[in-house]
Amino acid sequence: MADDVQSLTEAEAADELARLAKLLAAANKAYHADDAPEISDAEYDELKRRNAAIEARFPSLKRADSPSDQVGAAPATGFQKITHSVPMLSLANAFSDEDVREFDASVRKYLGLASDAALEFTAEPKIDGLSLALRYEHGKLVSAATRGDGNTGENVTANARTIADIPTQLTDAPDLLEVRGEVYMSHADFEALNARQAQAGEKTFANPRNAAAGSLRQLDASVTAKRPLRYFAYAWGSLSAPLADTQKGAIDRLAALGFQINPLTALCDGPEAMIAHYALIEEQRATLGYDIDGVVYKVDDLTLQGRLGFRSTTPRWAIAHKFPAELAWTRLEGIDIQVGRTGALSPVARLQPVTVGGVVVSNATLHNEDYIAGLGGDGQPIRGGKDIRVGDWVQVYRAGDVIPKVADVDLSKRPEGAEPFVFPDRCPECDSPAIREAGDAVRRCTGGLICPAQAVEKLKHFVSRAAFDIEGLGAKQAEQFFEDGWVREPADIFELEAHYGSGLQQLKNREGWGDKSAANLFAAIAEKRRIDFNRLLFGLGIRHLGESAAKDLARHFPDWSALASTVDQATTEQARDDAGRAALDVSPAWSELLAIDGVGRTLVSSLIQAFSNEDERASFERLVALLDIQPLEAAATDSPVAGKTVVFTGTLEKMTRAEAKARAEVLGAKVSGSVSAKTDLVVAGPGAGSKAKKAADLGIETLDEDGWLALIGEA
Ligand code: IVH
Repeated sequence: MADDVQSLTEAEAADELARLAKLLAAANKAYHADDAPEISDAEYDELKRRNAAIEARFPSLKRADSPSDQVGAAPATGFQKITHSVPMLSLANAFSDEDVREFDASVRKYLGLASDAALEFTAEPKIDGLSLALRYEHGKLVSAATRGDGNTGENVTANARTIADIPTQLTDAPDLLEVRGEVYMSHADFEALNARQAQAGEKTFANPRNAAAGSLRQLDASVTAKRPLRYFAYAWGSLSAPLADTQKGAIDRLAALGFQINPLTALCDGPEAMIAHYALIEEQRATLGYDIDGVVYKVDDLTLQGRLGFRSTTPRWAIAHKFPAELAWTRLEGIDIQVGRTGALSPVARLQPVTVGGVVVSNATLHNEDYIAGLGGDGQPIRGGKDIRVGDWVQVYRAGDVIPKVADVDLSKRPEGAEPFVFPDRCPECDSPAIREAGDAVRRCTGGLICPAQAVEKLKHFVSRAAFDIEGLGAKQAEQFFEDGWVREPADIFELEAHYGSGLQQLKNREGWGDKSAANLFAAIAEKRRIDFNRLLFGLGIRHLGESAAKDLARHFPDWSALASTVDQATTEQARDDAGRAALDVSPAWSELLAIDGVGRTLVSSLIQAFSNEDERASFERLVALLDIQPLEAAATDSPVAGKTVVFTGTLEKMTRAEAKARAEVLGAKVSGSVSAKTDLVVAGPGAGSKAKKAADLGIETLDEDGWLALIGEA
């Protein structure tokens, strides 16, 4: 692409800038105003980058309405926000019968159930619409909220009231009842709506799901009222009294209260019955009259659901079994290399646009260089060893909202002279060497923060929802500020107002920002100076440091300097080890890190690497100096084990180790894998060996499993 920009004449460049301005303006409108994105984020980014590259070469051609000066549309306003009293989570996916059997096995393993113990599941269609939470107080519908980011959604109560399937008044309902379900549109209603829209010269929708989303999120509820929306109830949030003892019982109760429940909901006595019900639903899929994209299985017994609980974003007691991916063939027009947050070079297929399952696809992932060459993760041939070349006729598939992939290549249609793809060994963005470490399928840019692609991806990660989540400062705005040179690293965000103090003036003069949104942005940034320790750690974008490990670290270390000095000490030891003098595990700091449950060697090495890289460390410290970091609040401060460090050892008989750990953490305890002077309590089951002995030697309180259950009030 850069070459192509280099070869443009001035006249061509001016035309191209005009074309890009138009394309990007349309994309912005489709995304922000119409709820109907027409191009993917990656394509959008690519257009933006191309525009910036041309402007950089021909500064005098920069247009008055240049897309570079637009920080993206301000976030959708108009609806008030509602915070969900119980977060609205998503579901883990299963793609094969084997995954379903594994799901059953994992539930049994967590609960410590034998493989022949009875365990029932419900199975029901996964509706392809948008989820909506309905809150009833004393039988009256008081609010309706979209899922939003899972924690906060939009208040669409007035619109929900216009949907016939949603009762506004219930009799015999619990005083507080929050019903959850899916808003959708039938195929017939969708076709008729599009026909009406077309006739009236209004925009049409790409698919029933977009039509349902666009119709529900109308600022004028009288428009929603004219749209044929429907609703299936399938779950619940807060309740003042349980609906039933089982999932099936609860759904039947919702039906009795007047909600529509899906008629294909069945009770299954195990994975084989679930798989059979899946086949039945799949058979009926084409004639149901509305879109579904899989089958959801849920543990039926609600007590067991409660014990299983949640991972960070999905319940352990449910899974979505997706229908097979949709396929299409098209031409591979080019292979671009994108550089990610951790320097990974990812090959992206540029495709001749093709419709796959109702969506136009023009980009797909090619994973890594081995994948292009026809090799799998284990070094063995895939696709019969066929490599992928620019110009090839390739098969593209997508499953649900997963990024499309290139699966196969038709050698009979390979153009003459097509050359094997040569994967770059230098970063296409900063020209630093890109290397592959032993055992890593991915080639990585070694430029660190000097690589603009890594720096900008780190910034985008920093502002993402699970990290700093600054209202009005999303990925697009972060990228814009980066390109302008206003924000190069996270710390700059918090100095934006100080540095551009008149910044308000500068910001609000730019298109897309007014007085109010600029002031709001600075307020939103100021608000996030106070940040949870775990969010900060996750936001740093350190490789292998995910949300849950960030929590594990934040739970263990009281503050930033405690963590940093432990990592530094582990670093010294590692350096010694590299010199061949000491073994890795002898460092007390290294052992302390490794003993944290959820923290493994790969992460410890990665932390050490990040903290000992001078540039990166300096960037961390600059940021930390500007923040008010909140220690991770013990989950339940009034529990008798809150803040205590607990070690489980030996065999537990009433629950598995995984369940014991998860429950202890919910109660605010830290669970560690090894006994040390910092351990407060050891729970020892039969067969406990050296750990129990060490606890005794150190005089640490030791309980058996019943003692533990009594302590946490569950005996
Ligand atoms: S249960 C804790 N049941 O799928 C999660 N979800 O990928 C409870 N969905 O956000 C969700 N049909 O919007 C459930 N029968 C069904 C569903 C369903 C569609 C959607 C829902 C959820 C998403 C998760």
